[in-house]
Amino acid sequence: MTNYRQNYGIGLVGLGIGQQHLRGYRCQDLNVAAICDLDQNLLAATAEEFGIQKTYTQITDLIADPEIRIIDLAIQPWLRLPVVRAAARAGKHLLCQKPFSMNMRQAVEMVEVCEANEVELMVNQNSCFVPGFVAIEPYLNSQHLGEIYHASITCDGWFLDFPEQHVIPAMMVHHVGLIYKWFGTFENVYCQAHGHKRSLDQGEVMAVAQLKTTSGVQVLLSCNWGFLGAAGHTHCHSYEEIRIQGTKGAICGHSNDLSVHLTEPEEQEIKPEIDGDWFPHAFGNVMVHLIDSLEKGEKPITDGRRNLHVVQTLFAMFESAKNGRLVAINEIALDEDYDLSPAPVLGL
Ligand SMILES: NC(=O)c1ccc[n+]([C@@H]2O[C@H](COP(=O)([O-])OP(=O)(O)OC[C@H]3O[C@@H](n4cnc5c(N)ncnc54)[C@H](O)[C@@H]3O)[C@@H](O)[C@H]2O)c1
Repeated sequence: MTNYRQNYGIGLVGLGIGQQHLRGYRCQDLNVAAICDLDQNLLAATAEEFGIQKTYTQITDLIADPEIRIIDLAIQPWLRLPVVRAAARAGKHLLCQKPFSMNMRQAVEMVEVCEANEVELMVNQNSCFVPGFVAIEPYLNSQHLGEIYHASITCDGWFLDFPEQHVIPAMMVHHVGLIYKWFGTFENVYCQAHGHKRSLDQGEVMAVAQLKTTSGVQVLLSCNWGFLGAAGHTHCHSYEEIRIQGTKGAICGHSNDLSVHLTEPEEQEIKPEIDGDWFPHAFGNVMVHLIDSLEKGEKPITDGRRNLHVVQTLFAMFESAKNGRLVAINEIALDEDYDLSPAPVLGL
């Protein structure tokens, strides 16, 4: 039944989090045709572990490989634009790790170049494919929960030294993407952020954001990577605490332990069956969704064009934190020079 998935040769670039991609793809029996990394030792060790025949150190060689139909980008956001341009012009579909971009204009250009070359561009918002979160989706409606008016996600831990330097695009992008999938577009945001031992421009490590969706859900996102909490008092990724509240019921828990509390027709607690973990299963589920969307000629649910709203929301959060005011998401124009990249874009 699923042999058609083998027809989509995957070319993976970047073997950091890319290791989790490979584990997820192995669970789904997908066809990784080649891998690419600048680090030759890592490349050789990974090829051996996963039984991958072809390895490249040059992305241009990977793009030129005729067996590859999907380029899977797991390199940092500020390195992506020239790769996306070249891959799209070569007729390859793309999967880009989150955050799609830390630069608004580059995000738009990546979407446009893929549209112009009629290739698909999906963003790897893997929070949207976590088995536990997918398992509660049948209950995310008025029939079960009544009017859903509040949702919160809390994530913390001690992790100051991350390449993106800004926790809003690096981590909160997962939570923004998930709420967007569940409740639709955002209208506005008020956000506070702190760099712990550095300035906001050098990079926030904690942020608290109150957002309102266009559908009227009030959302509280809190992410603190400068938190030295004792065991039992943390909500570390990938076990961040999630709460969803409606007039008739609520859902709470974390990625692999979620409870649905209903009040009608009688009080009951439901524990949806959860088939897998965030790492690595969500990564496999993402690629399966992309391949199945290509096969059916449908847009993936986290396609690049729709993800521009996520990127706008991330910049609105930062803008609010910087200036201490409520920011409407549509204030963030697609053609403005918003940029949080800690390094300039490099060529191929
Ligand atoms: N849950 C998740 O979805 C998740 C988790 C971690 C990271 N990420 C995202 O994945 C992306 C990569 O992060 P990471 O933590 O894996 O980074 P990393 O630095 O650990 O790994 C990146 C890899 O890419 C390789 N690389 C860099 N430039 C290259 C080039 N030009 N050609 C070939 N290989 C190249 C590096 O050698 C390195 O092995 C980021 O956008 C990050 O936010 C997502």
